[in-house]
Amino acid sequence: MKKLLSIVLLAFLYVNADAQSDSNMGIIPVPVSVKKGNGTFKLDKTVVLVSNDQKNAKSADLLNAFITRHGGFALRTVKAAGANERAIILNSEGAEKLPAEGYTIAITPKNITITGKDAGLFYGVQSVIQLMPEKRNNEILISTAEINDYPRFKYRGMHLDVSRHFFPVAFVKKYIDLLAQYKINNFHWHLTDDQGWRIEIKKYPKLTTIGASRNGTIIGHHPGVNTDGEEYKGFYTQNEVKEVVAYAAARFINVVPEIELPGHASAAIAAYPELSCFPDRDTFVDAKTPWSGSRKGKQVQQTWGVFDDVFVPSENTFKFLENVFDEVIALFPSKYIHVGGDECPKEYWKQSEFCQNLMKKLNLKDEHELQSYFIQRMEKYINSKGRRIIGWDEILEGGLAPDATVMSWRGTQGGIAAAQQNHDVIMTPGGPVGLYFDHKQSNSADEPTNIGGLAPYSLAYAYDPMPKELNADQQKYVIGVQANLWTEYIQSTEKVEYMVLPRMYALAEIAWSPVARKDFKNFSEERLPLHLARLDQTNTNYWVPTPLGLDQKVINGEDFNITLKEPVPGSKIYYTFDLTRPSELAELYTKPIKIKVAKGQKQVLKTIVVTKSGKSSVVTETILNNGNPDVKTK
Ligand code: ACM
Repeated sequence: MKKLLSIVLLAFLYVNADAQSDSNMGIIPVPVSVKKGNGTFKLDKTVVLVSNDQKNAKSADLLNAFITRHGGFALRTVKAAGANERAIILNSEGAEKLPAEGYTIAITPKNITITGKDAGLFYGVQSVIQLMPEKRNNEILISTAEINDYPRFKYRGMHLDVSRHFFPVAFVKKYIDLLAQYKINNFHWHLTDDQGWRIEIKKYPKLTTIGASRNGTIIGHHPGVNTDGEEYKGFYTQNEVKEVVAYAAARFINVVPEIELPGHASAAIAAYPELSCFPDRDTFVDAKTPWSGSRKGKQVQQTWGVFDDVFVPSENTFKFLENVFDEVIALFPSKYIHVGGDECPKEYWKQSEFCQNLMKKLNLKDEHELQSYFIQRMEKYINSKGRRIIGWDEILEGGLAPDATVMSWRGTQGGIAAAQQNHDVIMTPGGPVGLYFDHKQSNSADEPTNIGGLAPYSLAYAYDPMPKELNADQQKYVIGVQANLWTEYIQSTEKVEYMVLPRMYALAEIAWSPVARKDFKNFSEERLPLHLARLDQTNTNYWVPTPLGLDQKVINGEDFNITLKEPVPGSKIYYTFDLTRPSELAELYTKPIKIKVAKGQKQVLKTIVVTKSGKSSVVTETILNNGNPDVKTK
């Protein structure tokens, strides 16, 4: 009997793990339209792959590599299919009529035709990969369908801070692969900050011989009590940068480099102290971290935060930065060059006689206008090279540079203000909006050390990047949306993956899909589980969702009948009622939990999810309450 039960259960999970049962065919981000038919396309080794345009060869290879892994057979690639052959056809004819980056997929019993060009065709292939169900008896049965798809926003970005912690090229490529699978087309590479300069600049070798190392890293959460005293270093050579840029371009991803100015510049100043207002002053000691004091000279920072020692707006600094940007521009074909501009304390500029004299000479009324002057100088230079700047929303203060694109991170107000001034805007707010992926994913004490703030994937999913405050004309300036990953508390590639997944899937959907197609229930209960199950088969970490059906902290009642659903196909839910922490030795959930709670009493249900590969969720705690006076019911 027990054996029979487990077979039935497995069959249930198997069906559940099938993209074909979902009305959106399991695709993230959800396409503009999916119309399923009643027929079936049978994918087996007799099917041919038609690719008659050399430009589509890479997408053809990508699809065939997936089919080989997934189905255990490779398709024969041909220029044209025979009359009786079933085929997957990569087609660019007529694609010029599709919206930018758009594609269509037509699935009939005879053919799967993916129509698109360049990024559009690549995205069509990504969708076909996602909708592919599991193999049974050496064939893969795919429902007939018509899919029509194109993006809502042209800029869809993910950021990665490699200054606070450094990640090797191999991982940066893996990150880019993840972005590409979800139709994210910009990788914002945060290359310089107070804790390390991470890009080789040939004219200024000390940026990496000195600026890329720090002599320790704060232990635990800021302000902490000590550093680990260990050297921490790393940077990308120019050859490695070229390799990453080319790797991204092959996946239709633009790499936006960020070189921070005028603040967050401690690493550059440690290498070249003359870039400071006060070259002879010791490194600023954060008032909250007096234990980190008594360091002599200029040092790359070992703690997190914002530091007063910023670039002096001297001709020498501008020359230095122009030379740096000459090399950066030669490495990155990106139309956008990010110049930072956030969190620049004005204290040193206030104290500096040079800065005060400069402000008088230029008739600037305060240090915000001095920052605006700084940014505008850099913008003029970068524009003269045919590129455009992006800056964080502080660049609004003291007057926006004429052609700047603004990244709105301190809420949405900066983005709204910039769009009202007819400037392009990329929405990337943290706070209550949830696009800061360094924030924690649940309130559980099991979450790893993080910067704080709560940003479950549901929060990012709920966000609409288009501010309601803007009229139709102003809305045209909102070119897209991005999530940021600051890495103060993210020391390893495994933790990057944990923090990004599955939140990046929510980002992808709000960046790509029409608002009218958003459906959190379908996303979280039907499609997301399929993607997590695939991740579970690769060597990729992720935040394991808690059981579906347990979103209330307190449930009031007497006779409880609790139905849970595993959030990842093939995972198991374990639970306790005795206040102990559930493990794989606790009760295994196999059927609805029936429990009666006596009047005036409560029971605490604790659960944990363990995936096939052994990844665990955080523990949930749900109070089943029958009028217990200690229970706060809000
Ligand atoms: C930022 O988070 N300081 C842009």
